[in-house]
Amino acid sequence: HHHHHHVEDATRSDSTTQMSSTPEVVYSSAVDSKQNRTSDFDANWKFMLSDSVQAQDPAFDDSAWQQVDLPHDYSITQKYSQSNEAESAYLPGGTGWYRKSFTIDRDLAGKRIAINFDGVYMNATVWFNGVKLGTHPYGYSPFSFDLTGNAKFGGENTIVVKVENRLPSSRWYSGSGIYRDVTLTVTDGVHVGNNGVAIKTPSLATQNGGNVTMNLTTKVANDTEAAANITLKQTVFPKGGKTDAAIGTVTTASKSIAAGASADVTSTITAASPKLWSIKNPNLYTVRTEVLNGDTVLDTYDTEYGFRWTGFDATSGFSLNGEKVKLKGVSMHHDQGSLGAVANRRAIERQVEILQKMGVNSIRTTHNPAAKALIDVCNEKGVLVVEEVFDMWNRSKNGNTEDYGKWFGQTIAGDNAVLGGDKDETWAKFDLTSTINRDRNAPSVIMWSLGNEMMEGISGSVSDFPATSAKLVAWTKAADSTRPMTYGDNKIKANWNESNTMGDNLTANGGVVGTNYSDGANYDKIRTTHPSWAIYGSETASAINSRGIYNRTTGGAQSSDKQLTSYDNSAVGWGAVASSAWYDVVQRDFVAGTYVWTGFDYLGEPTPWNGTGSGAVGSWPSPKNSYFGIVDTAGFPKDTYYFYQSQWNDDVHTLHILPAWNENVVAKGSGNKVPVVVYTDAAKVKLYFTPKGSTEKRLIGEKSFTKKTTAAGYTYQVYEGTDKDSTAHKNMYLTWNVPWAEGTISAEAYDENNRLIPEGSTEGNASVTTTGKAAKLKADADRKTITADGKDLSYIEVDVTDANGHIVPDAANRVTFDVKGAGKLVGVDNGSSPDHDSYQADNRKAFSGKVLAIVQSTKEAGEITVTAKADGLQSSTVKIATTAVPGTSTEKTVRSFYYSRNYY
Ligand code: GAL
Repeated sequence: HHHHHHVEDATRSDSTTQMSSTPEVVYSSAVDSKQNRTSDFDANWKFMLSDSVQAQDPAFDDSAWQQVDLPHDYSITQKYSQSNEAESAYLPGGTGWYRKSFTIDRDLAGKRIAINFDGVYMNATVWFNGVKLGTHPYGYSPFSFDLTGNAKFGGENTIVVKVENRLPSSRWYSGSGIYRDVTLTVTDGVHVGNNGVAIKTPSLATQNGGNVTMNLTTKVANDTEAAANITLKQTVFPKGGKTDAAIGTVTTASKSIAAGASADVTSTITAASPKLWSIKNPNLYTVRTEVLNGDTVLDTYDTEYGFRWTGFDATSGFSLNGEKVKLKGVSMHHDQGSLGAVANRRAIERQVEILQKMGVNSIRTTHNPAAKALIDVCNEKGVLVVEEVFDMWNRSKNGNTEDYGKWFGQTIAGDNAVLGGDKDETWAKFDLTSTINRDRNAPSVIMWSLGNEMMEGISGSVSDFPATSAKLVAWTKAADSTRPMTYGDNKIKANWNESNTMGDNLTANGGVVGTNYSDGANYDKIRTTHPSWAIYGSETASAINSRGIYNRTTGGAQSSDKQLTSYDNSAVGWGAVASSAWYDVVQRDFVAGTYVWTGFDYLGEPTPWNGTGSGAVGSWPSPKNSYFGIVDTAGFPKDTYYFYQSQWNDDVHTLHILPAWNENVVAKGSGNKVPVVVYTDAAKVKLYFTPKGSTEKRLIGEKSFTKKTTAAGYTYQVYEGTDKDSTAHKNMYLTWNVPWAEGTISAEAYDENNRLIPEGSTEGNASVTTTGKAAKLKADADRKTITADGKDLSYIEVDVTDANGHIVPDAANRVTFDVKGAGKLVGVDNGSSPDHDSYQADNRKAFSGKVLAIVQSTKEAGEITVTAKADGLQSSTVKIATTAVPGTSTEKTVRSFYYSRNYY
């Protein structure tokens, strides 16, 4: 008999909808000699949430378990509960078991097989064919196990992973499970070690444009029983190009590697005029390493590389390839809104695209190592990454007794076969090193951040922190000497001794000091007291806003509807509103840049309704996600997005007006006046009012900015007219007080030469208009063609509009999604924090006029039809084509009808 436990799971396989009288269609996996060196191993897992089961035995009957594809998060599909924590979005953790059976062909005997986990939250225990291989506690760092010794060549093999997310384990929503990709590596006995190539170009700055010296160190492992004579052939060519377009190659002298040993082989390649990797032109190269025995190629291993150099200067800030670049950064947690922690590559890529369009050039991966997918996307798109490794050191934070602080200082036990793990080293060293080894060749990564506010939210003395910091600095330098290390410290501005000692040590080792929540006066003081430090705002702002809320203009306080104003007037007590945080940074060249808290809203930490212990904050349903984002959890920009875009994105013109212009959504003050704000990079703006039913545009007023240029050459503009705001940073944008009346507010933008910037060529709402009542839905897909790989996503944004197509600013209609054809619905969202409806439902209420559906391809190419419907409104349909995966599929998936103990 069949069990269908998977209906609500966002990443479920589409395989189990047969009638019980016919054999079930199952997908199974086979590893054979056509295998790529490293292949996707995400498909065809079985999952069970259970504290009591013991499922490591290969013969265990998992037929009743849910069939899932990875990446998978078992917190997001559970129910919100008042007995959980606001910090973690009121969602639980628990113990999850994953099992995957697969065959390994007999002709692979003699090969090495390893499994690689990019991230499992948390406390993973791994068994292979019933043998316990080891454990890995940290939830965000990559780890691998060698499977060879216990593999059955020519038979069925079973990998089992137990995941334990014991609560409380986090200050934000972590998710639970194998939430990042899993890959399988099959190599010869003699092969490049795990993440075994390190590439350095120390003379690039002086050699740029000519022959560039590449110094490579390659770890070659000999997992055979005889010594091996090897040479390495290494070739550099443009990524996606052919080796005959190589710009450099080398063949090393022959070297003998003893049986069972591994050796570091050093080599030098002279690369002819490589194109630099930069923000605008993120040129990438492939460095192909072939391990040769005579003429026989034993292993072929590709490393992605980009040629760039960076610098930090205590006076003028950051530079890339010798050019000054202000770091216009955001801090980002890892979740994907309605998908939970599922690290889907397209979901990550969409976030990056939305942020880049805002003008972001850098991301700080708070407060943990990123998914490899994020690093890959940033390499491809030209985004600079500060890769943070830890939120806490050897102390738990906020009373989260089960967080990583518990393992930081513990050594890896002797019976743990985690690849590269030494029984005497601490998990802290292991996790730091494995993160660096994975990403040390990534051009996007500019710094390793060793921690965030390590001395905040802990109890006891902090006198040991400088010693811990010094250890981390030393380990980081040993693993990668090419990048500065940093951290985000919030105690520098309070002048703590420990912070001063740690900052000096960081500086002495070429590091860069990150200060969290410093304002202008704090930056100036740090500059005076520590003139040698290179500094930046590692965490700034913490503005708290909802999307599309205009009936109050100030905020931060708890309100009965659990929403916060969208005006630039709401921030936490320790933070600053957007304009203030940026104004303090842009004026100071010695502050290398800013990492706004946060780019996107994230699940958990719903400040000002946050709580660090269990229990609802405010009435239930309590807010579950943060308000810190410039973009909401659905990916819809809040108004502040256009403030940042006007300041940061030099490629577009921004002209954005708020609020919306319906009487019931605005905040009318004396004389019926409503503050109308314009975010723009234009030199001059004219604001108009057109009464309803009229065509006459009446000029409300015109305002011009004054342009400012810093010594380093950065520009910004402020309004200095007689009616300017008494708060300096609020003059980075324009404000008029306009009596509310039905009609349209519109703006015209002019450049420095007083030329009109053409209507329709600007980003944002260049006009707002009084709407009629909701009449129809307007659905639009971000991508109308996606890949039929069972992973790719299309995001369908739906606006609730009036009869004229104007979005109704307070529309809250419940929209239902009907998805047919070659795809499935995997999530719905609207960005509203107190909304507790299921993210896996086929419907959701709009919030501030908008709602989102996410659809995923299946592995069959075809067409997906998505229809959005709501009672009383005209529905809207979009069609998405899904196209077959070009070339060979990586993991061989066998679609078969079969009866086995696993299914009956
Ligand atoms: C910071 C912290 C972040 C987040 C933020 C909220 O102190 O580093 O993780 O909690 O506050 O304002």
